[in-house]
Amino acid sequence: MIKVAFFDTKAYDRPSFEHYGSGQGIEFRFLETKLNEDTVQLAKGCDAVCVFVNDTVNASVIDQLYAYGVRLIALRSAGYNNVDVRSAFGKIHVVHVPAYSPYSVAEHTMALLLTSVRRIHKAYNRTREFNFSLNGLTGFDLHGKTVGVIGTGKIGQIFIGICRGFGMNVIAYDRFPAKDSGIEYVPLDELFSRSDVISLHCPLTSETRHMIDSSAIGKMKKGVVILNTSRGGLIDAEALLEGIKERKIGAACLDVYEEEADIFFEDRSGHILGDDLLSRLISMPNVIVTSHQAFLTEEALNNIAQTTVSNILSCFEKDGICDNELCYRCGSIEQCQKSRKEKCF
Ligand code: NAI
Repeated sequence: MIKVAFFDTKAYDRPSFEHYGSGQGIEFRFLETKLNEDTVQLAKGCDAVCVFVNDTVNASVIDQLYAYGVRLIALRSAGYNNVDVRSAFGKIHVVHVPAYSPYSVAEHTMALLLTSVRRIHKAYNRTREFNFSLNGLTGFDLHGKTVGVIGTGKIGQIFIGICRGFGMNVIAYDRFPAKDSGIEYVPLDELFSRSDVISLHCPLTSETRHMIDSSAIGKMKKGVVILNTSRGGLIDAEALLEGIKERKIGAACLDVYEEEADIFFEDRSGHILGDDLLSRLISMPNVIVTSHQAFLTEEALNNIAQTTVSNILSCFEKDGICDNELCYRCGSIEQCQKSRKEKCF
């Protein structure tokens, strides 16, 4: 039996993992707590840990896990910025779910954009109180506007397709442009200066951290709408707030926030929120925050569970080869040269 400590379990995780894990020789130990230095001992006696985006899997946690005999970190997400993959190399294998439903995230991004520019969130609240006034609800057409997409991988390309369906002009920036994609790539500064809407779909790395800062915001059009369904750390939230206060930014839609780890995914209603920056952003009439829910569709949950179970089984099989392994053997995860038919170490 492969024993797996399943950290940060939510009610919506269990049904799909119990379904796909049953009869597969995997025993999940469902834990509500997040993985970090204080909770790592809960993984004692387990062969693997299964973690999500706000678990902390740094070098010290990895060393502890290794000492306990844990040999696999199974991310049930695509992003892996919370795992020190470099420290894990040679000790613990790391797998992720590269694509579970890029549509879920791309569609949520468009849902946020439409909600914001057509003031749906305000109209919903008004009509529930029988307030049928239209004052303050004037939006703008997306048709003919320019959207700048940063990161044209799986999610970015689907979002581009959706935007084209709305008749938007699409420009993009990617460190590694997709060949023969028909996408118009432009330098980042040009994207900032030409876009009416900017949407972030690249991973959080040391290079992309705070790519949206005061200097970037200074180059943008007045009234720009910023969408972030990727990772909070891509935006310097203080600079964003300044841009909103100066009326430079027309609207911001955030599914992620740099300091979300101790806040998002939990019911904090009735509590005093200690994060002044997030409170201030939420208080703005032109900011919409969802709590990292872009992935949350039935299709995505099923795919996450199915792929994670298959990742775990393949890593503990005789040859131990898993297509979805992440490693630092070539020094870079994004530019992985490894054949998918061999182990990382
Ligand atoms: P992907 O790996 O298919 O695409 C990422 C793209 O970003 C690639 O084209 C890559 O070349 C590009 N990129 C890498 N470094 C860059 C840089 N320095 N500047 C510009 N572009 C760069 O990933 P996918 O599946 O499209 O996911 C994108 C991101 O979405 C993930 O990294 C994750 O952080 C986020 N995500 C958010 C979810 C949510 O629920 N809010 C759910 C799933 C993913």
